[in-house]
Amino acid sequence: MKSLLNKIHNINCFSLFEQIPNESVDLVCVDPPYGIGYGPWDVWKCKAEFLVFCHKWISECFRVLKPSGTMWSFMGYQNLIDFVLTLKQYGNVHLENWIIWARAKGRSSSKHLKSQREDVIHVTKSKEFTWNNLKVLREVICPYMKDGKPRGWFIDENGKRVRWTGLGNIWPYTSPFWKSKNDKLIHPAQKPFLIIERLVLLSSNEGDIVLDPFSGSGTTAIVCEEHRRSYICSEQNVQYFNDSIARLEKFKESKVAD
Ligand SMILES: C[S@@+](CC[C@H](N)C(=O)[O-])C[C@H]1O[C@@H](n2cnc3c(N)ncnc32)[C@H](O)[C@@H]1O
Repeated sequence: MKSLLNKIHNINCFSLFEQIPNESVDLVCVDPPYGIGYGPWDVWKCKAEFLVFCHKWISECFRVLKPSGTMWSFMGYQNLIDFVLTLKQYGNVHLENWIIWARAKGRSSSKHLKSQREDVIHVTKSKEFTWNNLKVLREVICPYMKDGKPRGWFIDENGKRVRWTGLGNIWPYTSPFWKSKNDKLIHPAQKPFLIIERLVLLSSNEGDIVLDPFSGSGTTAIVCEEHRRSYICSEQNVQYFNDSIARLEKFKESKVAD
């Protein structure tokens, strides 16, 4: 297991899974094929074949997850219902959170609304899962006062009324594009660094082991480097693998996720 850590492996994830012991991983961060033919890695004869593939990787993820572990998985709207029903077939799975990534950019279509969201589903193996309650600074809509003093809010350096509050489940982040700061696009399905960072910070602690079986541009590995988590990633495509290694090496040198 030790030899797998802190590497992106150029391997099919099912060969990687064979080398990972039961209940040894703290967090699985998955951005799987969506079953929509988005890229060469996402071509299926029919929906049934795609769902068999989902069953296969989901059962492996649950096998390797510790009892306190968490799995976050992205999914597109087209197969979201089938995907969640597939997850729920695993008896001891708890659906804990459901994030909408409001990504603004979307592909236009003559017969469909432009899709401007993707979903991120949080499931755990027990109710005793790792959770770090992140807070965010948000502008106050109703500035309540008590005894003439602001109740829970303050005025920031820009003169805005703000307060620290719990993180919501709608996350507006632009998709990475060719010139994004920290997120230069090297993969057609690349996810924003800031989203993966939040998932990792919410659901793991320093030194924990994070698994990403479909690693693409290597975003999870870079986030783990930044936040001192151990990682095990696999990417089967040689070109994406090479590009992600180059991105990771550059990050280690400069600490900027280019
Ligand atoms: C949706 S993309 C992941 C993008 C990634 N989250 C990022 O930020 O760049 C899915 C990736 O999984 C890879 N993949 C698909 N099936 C795989 C398998 N069985 N084993 C390993 N990698 C696989 C594809 O080549 C593709 O790069």
